[in-house]
Amino acid sequence: MPKILFVASEAHPLIKTGGLGDVAGSLPAALQSLRADVRLLLPAYHDALARAGKLKTVARCAIENLSAPVRILEARLPGTGLIVWFVDYPPAYDRRGHPYLDAGGRPWPDNAMRYALFADVAVRIALGRANMKWRPDVVHCHDWQTGLVPAWLAMEKIRPATVFTIHNLAYQGLFPRETFEALGLPAALWSHEALEFHGWMSFIKGGLVYADRLTTVSPNYAREIRTPEFGCGLDGLLRHRAGRLTGILNGIDDKEWNPARDPFLEKGYSSRRLQDKLANKLALQREFGLPEQSGTPLIGMVGRLVHQKGIDLVLETLPGLMHRPIQLVLLGSGEAGYEEALRAQAARYAKRLAVRIGYDERLAHMIEAGADMFLMPSRFEPCGLNQLYSQRYGTIPIVRRVGGLADTVADATKARLKTGSATGIVFEEARASAMLAAIDRALVLQQKKPAWKRMMLAGMRQDYSWRHSATEYLRLYRQAMRDKRTPPRKPTVRG
Ligand code: ADP
Ligand code: GLC
Repeated sequence: MPKILFVASEAHPLIKTGGLGDVAGSLPAALQSLRADVRLLLPAYHDALARAGKLKTVARCAIENLSAPVRILEARLPGTGLIVWFVDYPPAYDRRGHPYLDAGGRPWPDNAMRYALFADVAVRIALGRANMKWRPDVVHCHDWQTGLVPAWLAMEKIRPATVFTIHNLAYQGLFPRETFEALGLPAALWSHEALEFHGWMSFIKGGLVYADRLTTVSPNYAREIRTPEFGCGLDGLLRHRAGRLTGILNGIDDKEWNPARDPFLEKGYSSRRLQDKLANKLALQREFGLPEQSGTPLIGMVGRLVHQKGIDLVLETLPGLMHRPIQLVLLGSGEAGYEEALRAQAARYAKRLAVRIGYDERLAHMIEAGADMFLMPSRFEPCGLNQLYSQRYGTIPIVRRVGGLADTVADATKARLKTGSATGIVFEEARASAMLAAIDRALVLQQKKPAWKRMMLAGMRQDYSWRHSATEYLRLYRQAMRDKRTPPRKPTVRG
């Protein structure tokens, strides 16, 4: 079985800002249960260490120009037996709160240094140069924060294979040329065939250009990012590498997200005890200060408040939406403008709209369980996890047909309603009117009780556990180990 070094900048339950945290917190354990030998590597953020329990120092390595040695700390990922290694260099990572942003919501000014150091240590471990015995066959990297790992490893004659997973192509880790120089990267990497991107240094290109294999988190997004509409300027490069790029759908942690045993719920329920979902709806209304009305359709939303998620569409729709006999509960944090606008609207429609700004795991679970419908009007969505959680919780997702949402939600067409295979409501255009029409369609369907219930049950029956996708990753790791032996590529396409 291959030995995998899983390198990520966040992992639930230690530190999480979004779906990457869910994936890095659950896929490694799923791989391990398929007998792979996995180590998860994370930066030693203050909050992550605080949640990690018992820690021991397993290695120290001196790195040129650093004032102190970097330590590798070891712990077990809570709830799993998985070994986690932390890259501990306090000047870079010993900060409270958000891993990427300061208290004012701006990226930490030294992020390039922080993630270059993280990548540097990953490379040392991968090459057996970190005073540790264990060496991986495959290094699996995630998103721009780890992009330098495949680039540096590609320069080595003897090295493990590399896999780079794109969770979100819109975040590229772009920094000015001076940063490239300050990091002391080899001059050969300053080229449009390497890390340069229109005069900037791009961390993500390190992964996209140099990894032996590329993946993204749904088959549909794997196709979309090869088009100008979704390629964020990198579609040319991704078309060039299309033969090495696959989409593997994310799984979910089905223990953590299980309505029958969810400690955050008012009352557990399952497809056999569906009536108990109602207690969670009332609890949610109570929690958010909305009138406790079992018969009023309740729509939930949880997510980062950014353009990607279509928050502007929701704001634009509100006047119309608030005329309908519904309630809307929203939990999220992100761009200050959206936060303020949502707060203001919640004050205006106090009986129908409740907004909680912040990050709250318990409320996220309560919303998945208590809402009747879950809204995701995303502009793009590499995979999306909330629509998967919704289905597991018998909460009907209303989603845009994009990215992983298109792969995982079966629209309630007449034909599907007949066969009982519909799992949600899907709309096409990123426009307020299209979203409103989809919500109206859901409201009409909800009146048809047997059809609605069948849809809830169809969603709850889906298997979104990691079993299938983790097996696909294992196959891919073997493939990457074979690919590595072929001579290095010379990319020729401008990114
Ligand atoms: P993305 O990774 O783009 O943010 P996903 O749907 O893949 O989107 O994953 C988002 C994850 O983060 C989900 O587990 C969701 O519940 C969680 N999440 C997002 N915002 C919040 C929040 N404000 N409070 C609690 N959980 C949140
Ligand atoms: C990203 C994407 C999201 C995906 C998650 C985990 O942040 O925005 O769609 O589900 O990563 O892969």
